Amino acid sequence: MIVKKLSIFPSVEKSKINKEIYGHFSEHLGRCIYQGIFVGKDSPIPNVNGMRTDVVNALKELDIPVLRWPGGCFADEYHWKNGVGTQEERATMINTHWGGVTEDNSFGTHEFFELCEQLGCEPYIAGNVGSGTVRELSEWVEYMTSDNISPMTDWRKKNGRENAWKLRYLGIGNENWGCGGNMTPEYYANLYRHYQTYCRNYGDNKLYKVACGPNGGDYEWTEKVMQIIKPWHADALSLHYYTVPESWEKKGQATEFDAVGYYKTIACTRRIEEIIDRHLGIMSKYDPEHRIGLIVDEWGCWWDVEPGTNPGFLYQQNTMRDAIVAAVNFHIFNDRSDRIVMANIAQIVNVLQSVILTDGVKMLKTPTYHVFRMFKGHQDAMAITHVLEDTTTEHEGGTIPDVSVSASTKDGTMTLTLCNASLTESYCLDTSIDGIYADITGEILTGAMDAYNTFEQPTAVEPSSYTDFEKTAQGLKITLPPCSVVTLTLK
Ligand code: AHR
Repeated sequence: MIVKKLSIFPSVEKSKINKEIYGHFSEHLGRCIYQGIFVGKDSPIPNVNGMRTDVVNALKELDIPVLRWPGGCFADEYHWKNGVGTQEERATMINTHWGGVTEDNSFGTHEFFELCEQLGCEPYIAGNVGSGTVRELSEWVEYMTSDNISPMTDWRKKNGRENAWKLRYLGIGNENWGCGGNMTPEYYANLYRHYQTYCRNYGDNKLYKVACGPNGGDYEWTEKVMQIIKPWHADALSLHYYTVPESWEKKGQATEFDAVGYYKTIACTRRIEEIIDRHLGIMSKYDPEHRIGLIVDEWGCWWDVEPGTNPGFLYQQNTMRDAIVAAVNFHIFNDRSDRIVMANIAQIVNVLQSVILTDGVKMLKTPTYHVFRMFKGHQDAMAITHVLEDTTTEHEGGTIPDVSVSASTKDGTMTLTLCNASLTESYCLDTSIDGIYADITGEILTGAMDAYNTFEQPTAVEPSSYTDFEKTAQGLKITLPPCSVVTLTLK
């Protein structure tokens, strides 16, 4: 057992942890929207207005703050006008990015807002810059958010929605350095300025405009885009960073890996820390008042697809390793909540590092789902200062800090989340906490690094009650077993 000191200072507040850091991303990709969320009103799978009741209920337990849609790469091929009106009026298209399947557009703008209403979350629309027009995006914003009399609003009313919806988050393009048009940063930044001009605020609806940011460590993109867009043109810049430890050609399997593969994954995840900090440094040069926030609007593990599934559908299993990756990412994001305004895991159901997997009528919650639920207490809470003795350890496959921590307070309750990424060592954290907490409860998620839930055994990996802590004169002694995520709630 390795003993380390942890000091927590509840009165030394840092910044609010925006609840949107616990956000999600849904794309017209594989079985994410169709089958995973939307089955249509006539489906034998229980649904409300076409949305699967089991999935919606499970997602509601996570208090999802925001959902990004319709892509991803799909966003820059999506023509919203084909996704409204009666089904006969909705033209089909080929989803060229994802499996070449025919998209029937039965899930469109009205269905997306219905889903967000059922989930109680904010919608985040990703607009088409790559293959769209300024007019098309401008009219979509008008269709969604205007209460004036106009052809667009008349059309919306004819399609069954009398009042404008509220829309805050609007992405202007997606990965325009790649699938969204292969643009240079200069070209995109000028296009961004142009497009955003015509995305209007109607009535009291105030758009929060998101410019396409860099691919991982592409600092030149950030530098050039920040030079050209001005702080009054954009509210945030988006960063995409996936955990791909080996290479895009050979990503590795989701469930079959050894300790070397495990540690490489955690080390690869931790690289986001430096990447975020360097992008934030560049952004500060051009926006010293930090008016423009950073959104990590795609993150998560990207593995080879499950054997026997369509390679274009990106369906993968999810183990304890993914759960550790989620906890490590959240700790990194929470630590930077003064600048990170949102983060969206890719993707919500049946695609990449999902929180839910479905198979026909069956549904399961992944280990990553449980981390989202265990970290709920941080949403909109105040991050507080903590100091942890260094736990950096050399493992086969990568040198990582074994332990990571977040502490926050809200309404007199402290949420303390801890993750031990070591596969072999238990840690005892000798914790001093300023203040008195009479009521302390805990939950733990732990298991073999490659443990996962199946449709036959959907609860193989589940949180359980955690009691391996004891009160001391200064605070607590907290014991973390290997490969574990713990939440303590202190009142
Ligand atoms: O999440 C899958 C894909 O990854 C998205 O469509 C794209 O934005 C990214 O490259």
